Amino acid sequence: MASVPFTISDLQTSGSGFRSSPTLLCTPLMGTTVDLMLIEMGKAKEIGADLLEIRLDCLRAFNPRQDLDILIKQSPLPTLFFASYEHSRPVWEGGQYEGDENKRQDALRLAMQLGANYVDVELEVAHDFNNSIQGKKPDSFKVIVSSHNFHNTPSAEAIGNLVARIQATGADIAKIATTALDITDCARIFQITVHSEIPTIGIVMGERGLISRILSPKFGGYLTYGALEAGAISAPGQPTAKDLLELYNFRLIRPDTKVYGIIGKPVGHSKSPLLFNAAFKSVGLNAVYLHFLVDDVEKFFKTYSAVDFASGCSCTIPHKEAALKCMDEIDPIAKKIGAINNIVRRPDGTLTAFNTDYIGAITAIEDGVRELNGATPSAVSPLAGKLFVVLGAGGAGKSLAYGAAQKGARVVVANRTFERAKELAEKVGGKALTLEEVQDFHPEEGMILANTTSVGMKPKIDETPLAQHALKHYSVVFDAIYTPKDTRLLKEARETGAVIVYGTEMLIRQGFEQYKNFTGLPAPEELFRQLMEKHA
Ligand code: ATR
Repeated sequence: MASVPFTISDLQTSGSGFRSSPTLLCTPLMGTTVDLMLIEMGKAKEIGADLLEIRLDCLRAFNPRQDLDILIKQSPLPTLFFASYEHSRPVWEGGQYEGDENKRQDALRLAMQLGANYVDVELEVAHDFNNSIQGKKPDSFKVIVSSHNFHNTPSAEAIGNLVARIQATGADIAKIATTALDITDCARIFQITVHSEIPTIGIVMGERGLISRILSPKFGGYLTYGALEAGAISAPGQPTAKDLLELYNFRLIRPDTKVYGIIGKPVGHSKSPLLFNAAFKSVGLNAVYLHFLVDDVEKFFKTYSAVDFASGCSCTIPHKEAALKCMDEIDPIAKKIGAINNIVRRPDGTLTAFNTDYIGAITAIEDGVRELNGATPSAVSPLAGKLFVVLGAGGAGKSLAYGAAQKGARVVVANRTFERAKELAEKVGGKALTLEEVQDFHPEEGMILANTTSVGMKPKIDETPLAQHALKHYSVVFDAIYTPKDTRLLKEARETGAVIVYGTEMLIRQGFEQYKNFTGLPAPEELFRQLMEKHA
């Protein structure tokens, strides 16, 4: 198919689905032959890319006139040509160039003549290149002048100067790619893309720079790169085009989109973005939920202090405790537990924190008790007055013990390290036991058991924290472990006739609570459940 001149406004109305912003999605082709690149082109178009970056230095052999002609004429999408100058000098084995700079630029000029839409040239050679094409540039052709920094992200001032230098070369579009040493480095690139006088591509490379790539539509970036496949990235930290479009709803991001996310380290494995982005989309909320790989929580909240940024955050290991000191307000139970997992930014910019883990677990157990009693929800918790035994005194143990005590249960804490059990039991006005003592503890029948120790967790799935003979005194048994879902403890409790409550239920319900706190809306429970089931 012949390549056709295109404009940004064409792109806004073409392609699949509704689009909120003009930021383009560019997929780099990494094929080593022209034929492989042609196959990649078809795939990229199918995924929904707007633009193809053809990296000439990837080609093992290169016959400029013939190959460029084929690539440009057969491309189903606009093309951007790039031949790396600084970092992988052209190695066109068997080709004519062998790293010769003039010939490299000749190839880019030829691409222009043959109908390419963009070329990307480095700042160092941009003056020469732009002078050489003066008066010969087709209207539909644009020169991107780029600067790559593989070490760090300079100060806002230094980046501003760099953009000015790029502009002075006569560039149509500026591209600044830096390296993130910290997630807050992205803020300086956002500042540049928002304020730059010429269209600007701002990319912060590396895992900590991921948000710069996803949020480029929010900050007016000209384009962002999305790889064809996870293993075929052309720069560190590049997401796939599919993730940008399907996981992060890239097409729906615009300048007033609110940014949510999960703060953690590591955090890439979290399924929360999948749940929240699908939920936001299902109700048409103008919001996106990201993975925030954070090293220093305080610096993160100080840097990203705008009302529409970090509007709400989930918080996971290792920041559940450290985040406490950045908050303006803390839910009283979360304060007692000493750990938060849910942060909401109020319209006045202040931060309020909650612990939804305990709400998730306690509501799941309450439903378990109701199932037993056949009771319907009422103002009084079915845990009131019950004897509630918590195994473990770590973070999850504290959540369960405080949560149960708040509901009026009589709490018993049993822990391997007795001192920790004692400390927690005292705080919740309960009783402390050792793990040995709890095996024969049955002052009454129909007790409730909540395991928060890691005993029975994958891979040690044959272990259990409480012997089966002891389980007959419990009517409801909860296990915070969710890998495996059906732990030995739960299997044995089911055999003894207890109502069992899965750890996955705590996980999903804490998500419902987070969603409610973030949005003030009821959680799309069915959607969350379906997604959890599908992606577990
Ligand atoms: P979490 O935040 O998930 O609760 P944690 O704070 O590390 O994690 O707490 C783990 C809990 O599991 C603790 O109560 C721990 O007992 P200790 O306080 O004695 O460390 C308990 N635990 C971990 N491994 C255990 C084992 N092999 N046997 C018994 N208890 C164990």
